[in-house]
Amino acid sequence: MDHRELAKGIHWVGAIDWDVRDFHGYSTLAGTTYNAFLIIDEKVTLIDTVKRSHLDDLMFHVREIIDPEKIDYLVVNHVELDHAGSLAEVMDAIKPEKLICSPMGEKAILDHFHREDWPYEVVKSGDTISIGERTLYFLETRMLHWPDSMFTYAMEDGILFTSDAFGQHLATSERFDDQVPLSVIMDQAAKYYANILYLYNPLIRKLLAKVGEMNLDIKMIAPDHGVIFRKHIDDILHAYDDWSRGKFDEKALIIYDTMWHSTEKMAVAIARGFEQEGVFTEMINLKVHHRSDVMTKVLKAGALVLGSPTLNNGLLPRMAGFLMYMRGLKPQNKLAASFGSFGWSGECVKLLNQSIEDMKLELFDEGLRVKYVPTDADLDSCVDLGRRMGKAIRERKQEQDD
Ligand code: FEO
Repeated sequence: MDHRELAKGIHWVGAIDWDVRDFHGYSTLAGTTYNAFLIIDEKVTLIDTVKRSHLDDLMFHVREIIDPEKIDYLVVNHVELDHAGSLAEVMDAIKPEKLICSPMGEKAILDHFHREDWPYEVVKSGDTISIGERTLYFLETRMLHWPDSMFTYAMEDGILFTSDAFGQHLATSERFDDQVPLSVIMDQAAKYYANILYLYNPLIRKLLAKVGEMNLDIKMIAPDHGVIFRKHIDDILHAYDDWSRGKFDEKALIIYDTMWHSTEKMAVAIARGFEQEGVFTEMINLKVHHRSDVMTKVLKAGALVLGSPTLNNGLLPRMAGFLMYMRGLKPQNKLAASFGSFGWSGECVKLLNQSIEDMKLELFDEGLRVKYVPTDADLDSCVDLGRRMGKAIRERKQEQDD
């Protein structure tokens, strides 16, 4: 069997993007893949396409197996352009009998490509289409993470094609989860979840419940980015269960930016307080950490302590940008507090507290504000804040685990 074959007659025909480093603000330092799958049956079926820049790779991989004009059905699980950017060119090349998509998928394709003449076959949750020896079952997954998103399940083979869900931005010539260290895969899966799916936690809980009720015999989960799960299916499902529940580790993140090191001194003292309580902390200086890596850490943290000095009646711009990014991703189930130094107007803590409340995180303390440079007494207050939060987070973790 070809190393890109998922099951007899089901082939990976996607593209590997070794070079992409930015995905609308998400740092993809390990590159990514745009996965597409070709099923050879009475009706030859292509599931998903690729980013337009990688059209040649897709067509090359298809041609290695079959003449592209022999493709009968094209399934579009998701219209975002990293998967459907080459749709117009692929449609011209293969002229399929059916373009299969969800109801919202049809609307999104029309809004993107303005082609009323394509042979849309709209499928809803629970619909099936026979392609010969195989049956494809469709499950709409609206807002996971676009309105058009859906899963396609190849019933006889037990392969669930999940579009972005369970994806990882990971460029690799290996196609399966038993060919890459699991820690590498799970780190990238967590980063993907934290930066793309986190805000949809309630929908993910419903989806996991629905898939559980359906009692599908899932032998593989084939996302549109990264490796295909065939060995570690339980690991990725359990991870999604934990992340969507907001389960946290006994860990605090001290996320800050600093102007003349006063806010930094406060951060160090707060970390000391957590350490005195035996709670693991990470110091996240926003000057050196990318926002999307910080979000990966936020996903599993139990406490967030946010620090910024006041600049021009506001926050330092890296903190302001990070807060805007984090707010959109709707983190949940965290204790939070703020701190910062100021010279005269001193709005930093008020603004940080406002952000914490906007995110509906639990504000643990009114926050610590220090004029210019912290005194020993100020630093003692910082240590005390860390100690109090550390104690609280340990208790919350205990409750979570009970
Ligand atoms: Fe990988 Fe939502 O696209």
